Amino acid sequence: MARLRIAIAGFGLMGREHARLIRRHPDTELVGVADPAPDAAAAVAAFDVPHFADYREMMDATKPDGVVVALPNHLHLEAGLEVVKRKIPLFMEKPVTATIAEGLKLVEAAEATGVPMMVGHHRRHASDIRQARQIIESGRLGRILAVNGLWLTKKPLDYFDTAWRREPGGGPLLINLIHDIDVLRYLCGDIESVQAVSNNSARGFAVEDTAAVILKFESGALGSFLLSDAVPSPYVWDMAAKQALYLAHQPGDCYVIGGERGTLAVPTLHVWTHENDGDWRHPLQRTHLGGLQHDCYLAQVDDLVSVIRSGTKPVVDGMDGLRTLATVAAVAKAAEGGAAVTVAEMLTPEADS
Ligand SMILES: NC(=O)c1ccc[n+]([C@@H]2O[C@H](COP(=O)([O-])OP(=O)(O)OC[C@H]3O[C@@H](n4cnc5c(N)ncnc54)[C@H](O)[C@@H]3O)[C@@H](O)[C@H]2O)c1
Repeated sequence: MARLRIAIAGFGLMGREHARLIRRHPDTELVGVADPAPDAAAAVAAFDVPHFADYREMMDATKPDGVVVALPNHLHLEAGLEVVKRKIPLFMEKPVTATIAEGLKLVEAAEATGVPMMVGHHRRHASDIRQARQIIESGRLGRILAVNGLWLTKKPLDYFDTAWRREPGGGPLLINLIHDIDVLRYLCGDIESVQAVSNNSARGFAVEDTAAVILKFESGALGSFLLSDAVPSPYVWDMAAKQALYLAHQPGDCYVIGGERGTLAVPTLHVWTHENDGDWRHPLQRTHLGGLQHDCYLAQVDDLVSVIRSGTKPVVDGMDGLRTLATVAAVAKAAEGGAAVTVAEMLTPEADS
């Protein structure tokens, strides 16, 4: 079967990663890249594909089977609309758009034209996250009651040389927590409302460096999440799961999912139960249920291939990506005001204006 012809808009850090992945995958080939940056032409030449300054020209000249948009967030809407207008399947990097109002517009446009759209929440394609979901769905843990997550790591000081990273919106709530929220939604279902507090006590920039979040899931389960980008630690999924593009592997856990019958630690995939399905009077036993290990970014390309070739539903479609964005926006809003914020109240065009 002929390889799918994929083009990329935006050839920065993530666009170049996608180019390598499309190259590596047996069912895809790279047919063009658009990026007007002065250094882009040379970087594209290394892949031996046509380079364009304008992604519209790229699509019209190469007629690809799919387009990966890896542009800065504020350009996602405009580029996404250009892709779906041409009825080309769209892979949009996360977050789906910069704002919820934009996300609603893009999802509506894709649905109106019937164009498949997927969002780059790569962790859902990771073997540990998929296996964790299977364990939860198998009923082995019983009804999920209590969920806990950590994202603690220390960013280098020169990371903050870029001005927007020191300002509200450029911090770990909107940049990093979005991945963990997406995973928790995938594992435990939608989140109904959130409460949060944050501070900037580590560095004193206008942006937060540390936050504590309380999650109320639609299922009734309760959760808490602690994050900081000023704390050295192994308690961060990318390092713990050996899936980080640039960080060293340090095996360990960053999520704990507790049910009536047992607790699952992720990503090590150890399940803790009491003997004979008992309680604290019975000895605890630990069972390791992991096994598979694959590259989540390559598995994400598998999904793109399946969506384009076979018309399967994307693992993360546009609306799903938008719900994750709305949940993170609810956390940011709750951290500002202190009161609980529902995800439903964020899913309106006015919510983030
Ligand atoms: N899923 C992940 O693991 C992950 C990791 C990092 C970034 N991202 C996402 O990927 C996207 C890109 O992030 P990045 O870190 O690669 O940013 P980046 O700044 O490194 O790259 C963006 C590129 O887009 C180019 N660009 C700007 N305007 C353009 C236009 N009109 N047409 C074509 N190209 C244009 C820029 O020249 C730049 O090369 C963001 O949405 C980000 O959130 C996802």
